[in-house]
Amino acid sequence: MGGHDEKDKWIVRSEEGVGDTFDAILERRLSRREVLKSATIASSVAVIGSVALGAETASAQRISTPQFARVEPTPPEFDDIKVPEGYYTRTLIRWGEPLSASAPVHNVWEQTPEAQSQQFGYNCDFLGYLPLPLGANSSTRGLLVVNHEYTNEELMFPNYDPKKPTRNQVDVGIAAHGVSVVEIQRAPDGTWSYVRNSPFNRRITGETPIRISGPAAGHPLMQTSEDPTGTVVRGTLNNCAGGKTPWGTVLTAEENFHQYFGNFGKFDKNDPRYAIHRRYGMPAEQSERGWELYHSRFDVAREPNEGFRHGWMVEVDPYDPNMTPVKRTALGRFRHEAATIGIAPDGRVVAYMGDDAVFEYVYKFVTKGKYNPSDRAANMNLLDEGTLYAARFNDDGSGDWLPLVFGQGPLTAENGFNSQAEVVINARRAADLVGATKMDRPEDVEPNPVNKKIYVALTNNTRRGTEGQPGTDKANPRAKNQAGHVIEITETNNDYASTTFRWEMFIIAGLPSDPTTYFAGFDKSKVSPIGAPDNVAFDNAGNLWIATDGAPRAIKYNDGLFAVPVQGPQRGNLQQFFSSVAGSEVCGPEFTPDNRTLFLAIQHPGEGGTFEKPISTWPDRVGLPRPSVITIQAFDNRPIGS
Ligand code: FEO
Ligand code: CA
Ligand code: CA
Repeated sequence: MGGHDEKDKWIVRSEEGVGDTFDAILERRLSRREVLKSATIASSVAVIGSVALGAETASAQRISTPQFARVEPTPPEFDDIKVPEGYYTRTLIRWGEPLSASAPVHNVWEQTPEAQSQQFGYNCDFLGYLPLPLGANSSTRGLLVVNHEYTNEELMFPNYDPKKPTRNQVDVGIAAHGVSVVEIQRAPDGTWSYVRNSPFNRRITGETPIRISGPAAGHPLMQTSEDPTGTVVRGTLNNCAGGKTPWGTVLTAEENFHQYFGNFGKFDKNDPRYAIHRRYGMPAEQSERGWELYHSRFDVAREPNEGFRHGWMVEVDPYDPNMTPVKRTALGRFRHEAATIGIAPDGRVVAYMGDDAVFEYVYKFVTKGKYNPSDRAANMNLLDEGTLYAARFNDDGSGDWLPLVFGQGPLTAENGFNSQAEVVINARRAADLVGATKMDRPEDVEPNPVNKKIYVALTNNTRRGTEGQPGTDKANPRAKNQAGHVIEITETNNDYASTTFRWEMFIIAGLPSDPTTYFAGFDKSKVSPIGAPDNVAFDNAGNLWIATDGAPRAIKYNDGLFAVPVQGPQRGNLQQFFSSVAGSEVCGPEFTPDNRTLFLAIQHPGEGGTFEKPISTWPDRVGLPRPSVITIQAFDNRPIGS
């Protein structure tokens, strides 16, 4: 595809809509740098040197800057992946592959829920690589934990009718949701494969029993006709991104759970539960997949509390295939994108989280107890007790973590809160009341282990600044924000448990020729176009890697993966490393500990097409597109980007 043609398009598009807040941001950023540079920049460069130098004699500067020949973006109909010269990709595992010796081979014409619940699920999103055995640092053998966010029935089944799904289609769909745990290994020639008969392999689906823990466990709002105890729920749904804990578990995020519940239009408006469901966006009529046609728990008019049992962070121990996953309600209920962990200097565990919807909030949870590196079992229930906070981004570049604690401030019976259970169940309302900042769809919020700063991906918000909606502010500076932005947070004293922080704009995404974009002050003529940042990751040098979801709409290119240094003269020099296929988003970037393998989840390839009229045939080039996990490696086995 002609790169020059595409480049011309950027210039034309750049003449649309010029934001007027950019100068203010730049001005503020520059003045703040004067204050911060001696402390934070100097100390983080020193950290990079000590972490990354190792046996090699290279300057911190060279190591902190990714080295690769960037790929050029591809137009949305382009149906192949691209990596830089010197790199290759392989498909590691695809939708439908059997996860045990006895599991059936996938047959798209004769799908059953029994088969699907033993096979790799649909729409892979979060990827967590956990070395085997537990406690090792292996980059050649490990467990891959994969979220299966949602299903595209129109691509999975022939002659699918969304108004009248069959019982079998519904049940296959439920079984294709959830999580896969799969053992993977790297052969001496570099080839990765999954171990079909590994005892670690596991599927968690929309039917798997999940324990409910924390303040909401057992609360009357969590009780249903199927579970009068309010402590066990069937299934985890819409598992989007996630995070790994230092004790070797995975946190999987229940994001757009509301879409599975139908018939809210029939709900009694005088019922006090009505306002909560409304705040969380329950659909009025038949749900998108019609599961309530066959399963009353998804009919909110018939089972009014089931919806309260979704929208949580779920902890899974991939090293124990018999473990019952746990919904950790202390972390609040919202459309969770992910939860990523930092350890505070005093040992408390901090989980950073975003609520991925327009005008929703950034949160963090700080445990009461402390992480114990020498006693795994002692950490297993750390996430049940602590303090949930929502973020306020002040226009002067300061920030506050506002506690969502029952009885404190406005979170009292006067405002409808009678317990911490009610605060976490209705966390959005609690965050409204304390005055948190309404953001442009918070996706991953992740601490960088090298410089200790936290990066907040805000994917887009085209309603910002439109009639009747909140206007721009310094942290969400662009009206009709289609391409999103990335904010950098510095906690006070670099302490993840701090209740105050400083923040600055890192990237305002889009076509570099668009005057509203900003790349940390770096020369925009040298960077790649990027739209709709979603998942983030860090390499061992602390460079930020950003995967996107929504670039075709935002900038008329396929989604991709991008690397950008966060400090030094190359700070903001964002370059495209990977370009994805038609209809897909790029998810879950995850490195092996040695950085020599990069895993990516290619989610919903061919979305926009149908089973009968596909717009993608990736990755098999025959038949249906299949959501798949790929590996990316260098031909000479060097660490990615070095
Ligand atoms: Fe499922 Fe926020 O992306
Ligand atoms: Ca996401
Ligand atoms: Ca997304």
